[in-house]
Amino acid sequence: MALPNKIGDETNEVLASQAHIANHVLNYINSMSLKCAIQLGIPDIIHSHGRPMTPSDLVNALPINKSKGHDCIYRLMRILIHAGFFTQGEDGYLLTPTSRLLLKNEPLSLAPFVQAQLDPILMDPWHSLGEWFANGDSTPFATAHGKPLFEYAGDDPRLNRLFNEAMGSDARLIMSVLIKNGKGVFEGLKSLVDVGGGIGTVAKAISNAFPELKCSVFDLPHVVEGLEGGKNLSYIGGDMFKSVPSADAILLKWILHDWSDEDCVKILKKCKEAIPSKENGGKVIVIDIVIDNQKGDNKSFETQLFSDVLMMVHVSGKERNEQEWAKLFSDAGFSDYKISPMLGLRSVIEVYP
Ligand SMILES: C[S@@+](CC[C@H](N)C(=O)[O-])C[C@H]1O[C@@H](n2cnc3c(N)ncnc32)[C@H](O)[C@@H]1O
Repeated sequence: MALPNKIGDETNEVLASQAHIANHVLNYINSMSLKCAIQLGIPDIIHSHGRPMTPSDLVNALPINKSKGHDCIYRLMRILIHAGFFTQGEDGYLLTPTSRLLLKNEPLSLAPFVQAQLDPILMDPWHSLGEWFANGDSTPFATAHGKPLFEYAGDDPRLNRLFNEAMGSDARLIMSVLIKNGKGVFEGLKSLVDVGGGIGTVAKAISNAFPELKCSVFDLPHVVEGLEGGKNLSYIGGDMFKSVPSADAILLKWILHDWSDEDCVKILKKCKEAIPSKENGGKVIVIDIVIDNQKGDNKSFETQLFSDVLMMVHVSGKERNEQEWAKLFSDAGFSDYKISPMLGLRSVIEVYP
């Protein structure tokens, strides 16, 4: 494309396009700056200071080589302020509601989620995405690491721990909202199995909130190995493609988006075999994204699309819109479903046999 001689609309368009490309190419700097702030403990240090923290106080409190202090920390903080993680008044830096969710000892902390998602093992596959389109591997993760994610986690205790802690941190936050605003989802149930329930964070929250409800966590043997249950909580190792333990309700939180349509139908059929009829209170509770671009919230829609491509890169999954969900449920033999969009980017879908 040749540039016109005089500065006019077309030149402006070219420059705007260049800026758009530059912004996209450098977008990872938002993620990596956030990861660095958590690694350095910046949210915790500002929080424990108890009042606005001057740049010098922050530099002095950080475990860094002081020669990289003022200038570099100021620049790191500037981009994180721009992204809404901190504010800076006359007296110094303060946390925002978002960075409060990144404090290590905050019960609803998402710091483990940030650390896992931005770990090199989960980032490397992005460099293999182009290659994967041309080869026969199941996922870019498998192209990068030679085996699928869940198998890799079974062989690498560090990634297994990181991944399970990340899932646990998301689970604590989402369940606190669901138990506060969506109690009705669990009312009337006597038993529930959390299939793919990881280390049991979701099931623990449910079993504490509903002491009469018998909860089981069902996950791959390496995930539940050595975990101890409690009064109304137990752990079961197994493979959901083979069979699922029986209960009034099966919970599938962040499970179906990991799998292809074909695999989802297999999982849902196993769940259907494990629950009673609709009249006898049987249901599957799905917690996942329902892609929706009608609400006019561009950032949420973009985040749902990010998650969709992430599912393609890490596992053989995808995010789905309502029509796609309805087809899965019907193909697996379910009669009806109800979507409650009560969890921000995600929804609760109650699916009836
Ligand atoms: C994305 S994580 C979700 C964990 C948890 N439900 C949550 O939301 O916090 C997916 C889970 O599925 C489990 N999983 C993968 N394959 C499985 C299988 N064949 N049978 C049972 N669980 C499986 C993984 O070990 C992992 O804990």
